[in-house]
Amino acid sequence: MTVLLTGAAGFIGMHVGLALLARGETVVGIDNLNDYYDVALKEARLAQLTPHENFSFVRGDIADLDTVMGAVKGVDRIVHLAAQAGVRYSMENPGAYIQANIVGHMNVLEAARSLGGGLRHMVYASSSATLSCHSPWMTRSTIRCRSTPRPRRPMS
Ligand SMILES: NC(=O)c1ccc[n+]([C@@H]2O[C@H](COP(=O)([O-])OP(=O)(O)OC[C@H]3O[C@@H](n4cnc5c(N)ncnc54)[C@H](O)[C@@H]3O)[C@@H](O)[C@H]2O)c1
Repeated sequence: MTVLLTGAAGFIGMHVGLALLARGETVVGIDNLNDYYDVALKEARLAQLTPHENFSFVRGDIADLDTVMGAVKGVDRIVHLAAQAGVRYSMENPGAYIQANIVGHMNVLEAARSLGGGLRHMVYASSSATLSCHSPWMTRSTIRCRSTPRPRRPMS
């Protein structure tokens, strides 16, 4: 299978990419390597993926529809992990969330739609901030619940 992996240079994306390559899949990674955190770390992750002959990489922004449409050609699965993560930063730079998490997410969905029956499966990650301490998925004993502030307006 051929997988479009958005956020390939990210924390989760790199590990997903390595796991897919290890089982013989073809992976098309896309990431804009933005500077929300250390770009050298993202480049180091990417350097673990690029030696694989079944890996190709598009450095680009998922907020650009043409870029996503180009990357999705020939793909039959999508793992969508590119996102602007974090909650506090959404107060500082809300535009980054609109671009990556709303415009970018919609573009990935449009790209998926363009594949029609050729797309077998798509999975994407949401934010843990959508779970609150009152969610049935969280219990009072959950460490994350205690340590994660409940944003009034989670955007990520
Ligand atoms: N790490 C966690 O504990 C955790 C928990 C819950 C949910 N998630 C979700 O999982 C997903 C991946 O998380 P992560 O920890 O790997 O985050 P990450 O920030 O390490 O990786 C995201 C990657 O997406 C890229 N990216 C951001 N905006 C982009 C854009 N517009 N175009 C192209 N690339 C873009 C970034 O450069 C980065 O490499 C996110 O949706 C995050 O909210 C993560």
